[in-house]
Amino acid sequence: MSVDKHGISRSPVWKKLKEHAEYIKRPENHLKYLIAKKDRLKNFSLKSVDFFYDFSRQRVDDKAMDLLFELAETAEVQKKYQAMIRGEKINVTEKRAALHTASRNLSDKPVYVDGMDVMPEIEHERQKIKFFAEQVHSGDILGSSGKKFRHIVVIGIGGSYLGTEFVSNALFAFAKKNIEIHFLTNVDPHNFETVKTQIDPETTLWIIISKSFTTVETYANMVHAEEYVKSCGLDPSKHFVTVTSKGSPGDDPDNPLLATFHMFDFIGGRFSVTSAVGGVPLSLYLGYDHFERFLEGAGEMDIHTKYAPIQENIPLVSALIGIWNNNFLGYQAQGIIPYASPLSKLAPHIQQLNMESNGKSVTINNYELDESSGVIVFGEPGTNAQHSFFQLAHQGHPFPIDFIGVISPQYPQGSCRPNGVTNHQELWANMISQATALAVGKDSDEKVRFFQGNRPSSTLLLNDLSPTNIGRLLSYYEAQTVYKAFVWDINPFDQFGVELGKTIANDLRKEIARKNCSNEHSFECIDPITRFYLDTMFKGKL
Ligand code: F6P
Repeated sequence: MSVDKHGISRSPVWKKLKEHAEYIKRPENHLKYLIAKKDRLKNFSLKSVDFFYDFSRQRVDDKAMDLLFELAETAEVQKKYQAMIRGEKINVTEKRAALHTASRNLSDKPVYVDGMDVMPEIEHERQKIKFFAEQVHSGDILGSSGKKFRHIVVIGIGGSYLGTEFVSNALFAFAKKNIEIHFLTNVDPHNFETVKTQIDPETTLWIIISKSFTTVETYANMVHAEEYVKSCGLDPSKHFVTVTSKGSPGDDPDNPLLATFHMFDFIGGRFSVTSAVGGVPLSLYLGYDHFERFLEGAGEMDIHTKYAPIQENIPLVSALIGIWNNNFLGYQAQGIIPYASPLSKLAPHIQQLNMESNGKSVTINNYELDESSGVIVFGEPGTNAQHSFFQLAHQGHPFPIDFIGVISPQYPQGSCRPNGVTNHQELWANMISQATALAVGKDSDEKVRFFQGNRPSSTLLLNDLSPTNIGRLLSYYEAQTVYKAFVWDINPFDQFGVELGKTIANDLRKEIARKNCSNEHSFECIDPITRFYLDTMFKGKL
């Protein structure tokens, strides 16, 4: 069965799901009763590739799941996923393939785009990265004053740094301790000044990462960095590398640099951490072997996603649960709460991945969506989150949560047991309790101490925070994101929503530049509100 061109929300199964959601909302289907059912955990959890996904505390029953599986079939999500990994141009608006999965294909299987196998090119970049990282580590490549590199600064924004920031934080325990990583992302001068205090320019390698190489913030920071390097008496050509698309302004053979690495138009920025975008900084920071283990993990989850049937497909089932929560139960936000500090940058990464991909209002056939796609994603590690916004989670506006637990921490636990338990056990006690408290709630005669409960969550468990597991986790969220898009029948690979603000900023930049050249320039023709802000900026005080 295929989807109505207006989108999935006109299909009969959507209607059935709407009806069933009304049934689930009845008091007798409160989560406290659902989770007490026999074999609840067994029937509402999945395990594969060392990844455990527990959705027993979601507000679903067997019928809801059957209808969601029917929804997935109706939307032909697996067919769309297969088309994606086959290299079909499913990014219709930009006429591009979406092949982030090829960037972690470590097999010798070809992947075709326009009849050409792209794997040799990808493999070539990987080898180049490996060789470059080895040369930097061995000291075969040195800075212009002859010193070994001790700092790398990633200059890039959005998808050109968020994934790398997430992975480098998650794998800090594996990092080469003689190289520090820094991120210069925002065009805010505070960002640049802070980075300057953390580095030694003689031992700093700047990695300019931009798929388009036209991103204003990245360009501005690059120019600042070049000026700074020159002002320190150093030669920028010995301190800079670029990661960009072939043929972009950053891929300029006449501009002498240490190296240029390529990413490809068939890999979207927010899906690019397994390409050279993550490959260059992560191989320098962690060593190429660790980067390859990370790719291996992502590749394993890709294979699971490709072959697992709908009912057992972890990213797909979680995508369906997400749609159920959003479109049928009406939750507009999603929390991501890892009980592991190394995952502190997971939520910011998934924020972009999910919201830039799925915050859309038209279907792939250019029809307005009847139902909202995408939710607000946010998060913090637990238990910090508990002491921050969990009041709202328990008694205020409800939102579903992904709890993420790690069985073995990256460091030995030692024998110290304040309150009779290790800190790791304390963390787990909290993670387990929060999910239960949200689901079950608590009666009280005092209204202020009453907990409504019936607040859904999933729990994801990883054996440890190895590079392989971080790869699996990344691929899980990527696949979940695209599966949701495939159900809504939207294109998760374009981002036209970011254009309007950029265009207005381009116009204002010109106005500001004119004023910089001539103080006589007035902002008369600009609307009064905008003019107030421009005048205030130039006046330098309120
Ligand atoms: O914000 C829009 C966007 O294009 C993101 O999709 C992308 O990750 C980011 O800007 C950076 O783009 P680029 O890698 O081309 O500099």
